[in-house]
Amino acid sequence: MISFPAVPRVIGHRGSARLAPENTLASIRRAHADGARWVEFDVKLTADLVPILMHDDTLDRTTNGTGLVADLSLARIAELDAGSWWGPAYAGERVPTFAAALHLLSRLGLGANVEIKACPGFEVETGRVVATALANGWQAHLPPPLLSSFSPEALEAAAEAAPLIRRGMLVHDRRAEWRELAARVGAISVHIFHGFVTPELAEATAKAGYPLLAYTVNDAATARRMYGLGACALFSDVPGYLLTALG
Ligand code: G3P
Ligand code: MG
Repeated sequence: MISFPAVPRVIGHRGSARLAPENTLASIRRAHADGARWVEFDVKLTADLVPILMHDDTLDRTTNGTGLVADLSLARIAELDAGSWWGPAYAGERVPTFAAALHLLSRLGLGANVEIKACPGFEVETGRVVATALANGWQAHLPPPLLSSFSPEALEAAAEAAPLIRRGMLVHDRRAEWRELAARVGAISVHIFHGFVTPELAEATAKAGYPLLAYTVNDAATARRMYGLGACALFSDVPGYLLTALG
């Protein structure tokens, strides 16, 4: 297995997505409370180009709003409830700005994989804005962060804006030319859906010198299989559970 300095074996996915509303500060706090040392979350831009935490291109699934994130300003999105859909205990939870998330990470001492999840057509802009905000806002007492994206355009823009921030290439297609993509964006790691990770693929990533990270692993058997194949870290919606189950 290739080691990946400063990156722990388990990374909370969207914070702790099975135990709190994903991509909220509550979800990040929950991952931390459950023992995670790093979290992953998704970042995209509002209509006025402010980076916020959100997975989908639309507001419908994870807030009480509707429509495209790219059509609304931060002021409008900040009024939305991002917790009630999950349960009454989280009513009033807001869509966090990236700046607020960085502040919380600093307070909790958490590392992060920041996934650039650009709204369609905004790949370059999002890569540039998120990488710049990360370079300016990351606190030196934390481990060096890791940017990632499925979009090579977003990662290229990130590399140009903040060349010193490490980049990982996300792979969502079994047939993807991951080597070419990783080389193109100057990635230092590849992040692959666990269902695509075969012994051959794991061996090929190791031979090419890339740490392999697998998403999203929520059970101990799959986690053991991934580590057995050489994965150095796993993204999990239940980081606390995996940490306990794996001992
Ligand atoms: O970064 C790993 C994982 O989050 C990628 O997929 O759709 O959950 O953002 P998704
Ligand atoms: Mg993600």
